[in-house]
Amino acid sequence: METKNIFKGYLFIPLLLLIIIFITGCHSQSDLINKIYSNVQYPFPCVRILTKDGEVGCSSKINGGNSGELYLIDDNDALEDFLGGNNKNLVIVLDTNYFNKTIVQQIQSKCQGIFVLTDTKKSYSYSPDESYPLKKFGLYPNSEKIWNPLGDSFLYGDVPIPIFALDLNTSIAAREAGGLNKKGTKPTWGAQFDSFMHGGFDTETCLRRGFCVPIGGKSIWTSFSPVLNQEKEIILVMVPMDTNAYFHDMAIGADASTFAQVILISMVETFSRMDKTSWNKEVIFATWDTERWGYIGSTKFVDDLLNFKCDSMDNTNPNQCNSPPYPDISFTNINFEKISTIIELNQIGRPEIVDNSTFQLYLHSLQSNSPLTKAFLDKQSIENTTSLIYKASKETELPPSSSMSFLKKNISIPTVIITDHDGAYSNPYFGDHLDDSDNVNPKSVFPTIISLVSIINELASGQPTNVSTIQLNEPFISQIYSCFLYSFSCNYVITLLDSYPYNTYPTFYSNVYGVNPTFTMITLQTQLVYYLLANITATQYSNTTCRDNSGCNYGQSCIAHKCITTNTHIHPAISLAFDYNYKKSAWFIKNDSYPTFVESNWDYTSARFYQMDSHASEAWFLVAGLLILATSILVIFISKRFLSKRYKLL
Ligand SMILES: *[C@@H]1O[C@H](CO)[C@@H](O)[C@H](O)[C@H]1NC(C)=O
Ligand SMILES: *[C@@H]1O[C@H](CO)[C@@H](O)[C@H](O)[C@H]1NC(C)=O
Ligand SMILES: *[C@@H]1O[C@H](CO)[C@@H](O)[C@H](O)[C@H]1NC(C)=O
Ligand SMILES: *[C@@H]1O[C@H](CO)[C@@H](O)[C@H](O)[C@H]1NC(C)=O
Ligand SMILES: *[C@@H]1O[C@H](CO)[C@@H](O)[C@H](O)[C@H]1NC(C)=O
Ligand SMILES: *[C@@H]1O[C@H](CO)[C@@H](O)[C@H](O)[C@H]1NC(C)=O
Ligand SMILES: *[C@@H]1O[C@H](CO)[C@@H](O)[C@H](O)[C@H]1NC(C)=O
Ligand SMILES: *[C@@H]1O[C@H](CO)[C@@H](O)[C@H](O)[C@H]1NC(C)=O
Ligand SMILES: *[C@@H]1O[C@H](CO)[C@@H](O)[C@H](O)[C@H]1NC(C)=O
Repeated sequence: METKNIFKGYLFIPLLLLIIIFITGCHSQSDLINKIYSNVQYPFPCVRILTKDGEVGCSSKINGGNSGELYLIDDNDALEDFLGGNNKNLVIVLDTNYFNKTIVQQIQSKCQGIFVLTDTKKSYSYSPDESYPLKKFGLYPNSEKIWNPLGDSFLYGDVPIPIFALDLNTSIAAREAGGLNKKGTKPTWGAQFDSFMHGGFDTETCLRRGFCVPIGGKSIWTSFSPVLNQEKEIILVMVPMDTNAYFHDMAIGADASTFAQVILISMVETFSRMDKTSWNKEVIFATWDTERWGYIGSTKFVDDLLNFKCDSMDNTNPNQCNSPPYPDISFTNINFEKISTIIELNQIGRPEIVDNSTFQLYLHSLQSNSPLTKAFLDKQSIENTTSLIYKASKETELPPSSSMSFLKKNISIPTVIITDHDGAYSNPYFGDHLDDSDNVNPKSVFPTIISLVSIINELASGQPTNVSTIQLNEPFISQIYSCFLYSFSCNYVITLLDSYPYNTYPTFYSNVYGVNPTFTMITLQTQLVYYLLANITATQYSNTTCRDNSGCNYGQSCIAHKCITTNTHIHPAISLAFDYNYKKSAWFIKNDSYPTFVESNWDYTSARFYQMDSHASEAWFLVAGLLILATSILVIFISKRFLSKRYKLL
């Protein structure tokens, strides 16, 4: 009995302790989470792509992603210290000057992940793309030429850790936190990322397991003619639409093609207000999607012009095929053999400047003395009103371009590819997120539009253009320019699109095609291009309000909630490599001589920063934890003995 009383007296103290520790423990725990964990609002992850040959891109680990203490590499000393050390639990905060293939390959196996900073500009030119972009899918698969000498092919490398780019504000904060860690300030900063990719191994395996979707998109083409006259010759004016970057959500691709796309849309707007009655040729304006992945959009379009057959037409809509599923088969009005001229605007955002004031672009053509090239070369500073001239390139091979998809089927179609480079690219950041608005020359926008409108009008009508009749809608052009190159938060996005992009950083990454041939995706940027071109070329506006095309009459489209009549069309951009097995509900590779790029599925991507505990507080937590454990054991032991005597339950 005596011993029992002693136990009873002691029981109170540990119990009290336990309660106090429990309450304070709980309290500091929730404070911890509320105060110091901060999620990155817009992470820009590198994701995983697969090809028939294997994996490309990045992924985090499956369980809770990767995490560690921040380590800032912003100079050679920090890099050397890191490479010489053996702490593999660090998360690297990488200054943009150290973000290239050589450096990442050195550090990737020694760290948990990498944050790439965007608060400063790279001090040197760099391209993560290939030295001959898309060579094997082009016209000269065995060429020795180097178009992009800066390219280190990092875009096609496989990295076993997560890599995220950070937006400006987060970059500033991450650099500061990394700097504090370097100084040894306590508590230290850490970070965690989650970007686990389901897909792995290669395209075939990944598609079979249902963990991947083909990369693809939607091309857009338009014409001012309500119905194309199939007897007339066709002038095809085109641009590649999509761009690429290591971080897909940062793929502005200003010089790569977005500048050219702004010029194309602005040209169409300018033509919409001009007299076109003298045109005796059909002029088709087109912007091809998924070109950066092996000219997929243009190849698909050409293949459809030559080989499309509808097995089962829709009963109600004569423009729709049910098998294969094509919601719009207006392209069957285009006769491939009638394509007599191709004008492609490629990289044109950085024209050379001659005599201080005149911009100069280059013409790439296989027919150097054709009437087509002459039409451009003769337009030397049109009536002295525009300051843009053309020069024939010295190269004998065409540069990487969408035109190749057409020329593969008929090498004699007169073609000019207009670029800002004669030989090697002048773009210092091809395929990088730094190919942004700072990388192009906005002063050349108006001269380029006036010059091209003048020449195309002349080619379409066979008569010289009176340049003083070309009136630019300067507010429209400026808005589109800033919308595409600076931020999607512009009026046109707001009025034309129902869903505002969650992140206004412009990107023209192609994205994925869709889970099957019927449920396909159309990205917001592609919708924007479609709506703009459709609205500009509309031949009739009705007052009918609508939610989608099904709310309009046959032949009309629903644009910004109004039914309009326009000859503007969406065309699937999917690699000819793929076909869909309806029985197995899966894409499969039908012919692997075409591009086999697929993107892995993932659940979400996230990144967060947190303050790690100091050693002192870690030790305190350990002691507290042990105390709790010991007390609990004691309490259980005592109460068991005590209770088991009173109640015969335990
Ligand atoms: C990669 O970055 C390092 C460090 O800035 C630099 O010395 C090197 O020249 C870069 N390599 C390439 C190919 O740009
Ligand atoms: C970045 O920080 C600045 C200054 O604190 C602030 O004005 C701006 O809105 C922030 N930008 C974003 C995108 O959060
Ligand atoms: C190839 O293009 C040329 C020039 O437009 C045309 O004369 C010729 O008929 C075309 N050939 C084929 C097979 O389409
Ligand atoms: C170009 O401009 C600079 C500075 O404005 C001037 O010194 C130079 O003479 C000009 N050159 C020509 C060819 O006009
Ligand atoms: C255009 O400028 C050149 C050189 O400045 C001049 O010789 C020519 O007469 C001008 N042409 C017209 C149509 O004004
Ligand atoms: C060009 O257009 C302007 C304005 O429409 C007109 O005044 C001028 O006479 C035209 N020039 C020619 C050569 O037709
Ligand atoms: C569509 O075109 C009409 C007629 O040109 C114009 O009034 C309207 O502002 C355009 N809408 C948008 C969103 O561009
Ligand atoms: C649309 O409505 C306006 C104003 O109510 C009217 O003037 C116009 O004629 C209508 N247009 C059509 C195509 O019905
Ligand atoms: C795959 O496509 C290529 C290029 O069009 C063609 O030459 C080849 O015959 C095709 N292979 C098969 C198996 O269909």
